Amino acid sequence: MKVLIEKMVFAGIGLAHLDYGEPLRGHDKSKGKAVFVKKVVPGDVVDIRLINEKKDFTFGVVKKIIKPSLTRIDPPCPHFDKCGGCDHQNISYDNQLKYKDEIFKEVLSRAKIDVSPETIIPGSDHPFFYRNSIRFFFLHKQDGSVAFARHRYDRPSELVEINSCFLQSEVSNKILKSLKEHINNKIEHKSGLWQIKIREGKGTGEFMVEIITSGETLEGKEGIVEVLKDTPDIKSIYHTVTPSKSLINLRRNLIYGSPIIHEKIGHFTFQISPQSFFQTNSLGVKTLYDVVKSMAEIKIGERVLDLYCGTGSIGIYLSTLAKEVVGVESVPEAVRDANDNSKLNKIPNIKFIRDDVLNYLFSLKTSNYKLATVIVDPPRAGLTPEIIDKLSTINCKQIIYVSCNPSTFARDIKLFEKKKYILRKVQPIDMFPQTHHIECVGLLTK
Ligand SMILES: C[S@@+](CC[C@H](N)C(=O)[O-])C[C@H]1O[C@@H](n2cnc3c(N)ncnc32)[C@H](O)[C@@H]1O
Repeated sequence: MKVLIEKMVFAGIGLAHLDYGEPLRGHDKSKGKAVFVKKVVPGDVVDIRLINEKKDFTFGVVKKIIKPSLTRIDPPCPHFDKCGGCDHQNISYDNQLKYKDEIFKEVLSRAKIDVSPETIIPGSDHPFFYRNSIRFFFLHKQDGSVAFARHRYDRPSELVEINSCFLQSEVSNKILKSLKEHINNKIEHKSGLWQIKIREGKGTGEFMVEIITSGETLEGKEGIVEVLKDTPDIKSIYHTVTPSKSLINLRRNLIYGSPIIHEKIGHFTFQISPQSFFQTNSLGVKTLYDVVKSMAEIKIGERVLDLYCGTGSIGIYLSTLAKEVVGVESVPEAVRDANDNSKLNKIPNIKFIRDDVLNYLFSLKTSNYKLATVIVDPPRAGLTPEIIDKLSTINCKQIIYVSCNPSTFARDIKLFEKKKYILRKVQPIDMFPQTHHIECVGLLTK
């Protein structure tokens, strides 16, 4: 079935409409139902197979590109056509920014949010090799050997073999290569190998490798450590156990080096434990935090509440002018990192509390925060109505909302509106080149 891709919409998806006439006549939307297709470029004419048909729309998978868009480019990665890791390597970086800008505006206008977003800015000058953390599956092949793999974009329950990745650094690619060779040559029982995660401090060159098995033992552990130690940048190696092959309740055993690695953002250094969240694009984080800083315009002597603070990085970044910063985070290891980070950076006016954000808000003495700036940086699911309700009762001067999900951001902005906190300004930032993800920072005041 032949369709013309009209534009990019959310989640790295191109929009077309089914056309029942022959030949393909432009994109008259009255012709047929909407069809969503991945890995395409606006202007492509593609032959698709329909999947997952619904009453008002359907999804399609490209069988063949009949006429490529004039703006289509060759993806540098040989795995792009199958791998679910990237959406947009077939689109020039300038056009990726243009499409993300349009999508972000559309998300806000659909939600009837009456503010014109700033033009999207790139997090950094590096649209490739920017990730500081990446996870691969061990692919167990029929001949008994292993390779590394990620989920397929079109059949997410299946894996596609990956020899190298254009989002992680070259050192990570070398680590994968030498480890695969070693395991295939020296290790007999490989069936327990499940995943590998590589984390990197881009500003320090320190690497952490985590090998995750479903069984209790890591066969050939000493040999694996010896091979990995050949890469001098590897400062930390964990063997992590997950009998249920899930990322919940991981049991981590340090098998080499230091339990933590470090990263640098601007003048600050941060320690990171394997359990702690850290923004994945280290080079882009400075841009993100600079946007937060300039939007917040913290005045000397003000209080700052950094909710969902992770390793304390935003609070530490903003601490120089504030009277006091309080960070709240639920993961104990991240709170430990945050406390260590305040010492590492000699920040006297910051403290971190391990708590659930909603619990913490219930315990807060709100009168202390009337003139404060509250920063929220929740996971992709965003905030909840209870948190928005409770936050609004603090009556703080301003809320800075950092979000990696425009849809939940827009939903939450509408809930804040009901509590008289209005979005005044919003800056989208591209922290995730080659993928569909969009980060943004919004300023809300009464
Ligand atoms: C998107 S990360 C932001 C971290 C940090 N602001 C940064 O820039 O690196 C969200 C953080 O919220 C934490 N978190 C998730 N749910 C939470 C909750 N209910 N209460 C407190 N912290 C939570 C996560 O562990 C994670 O560290």
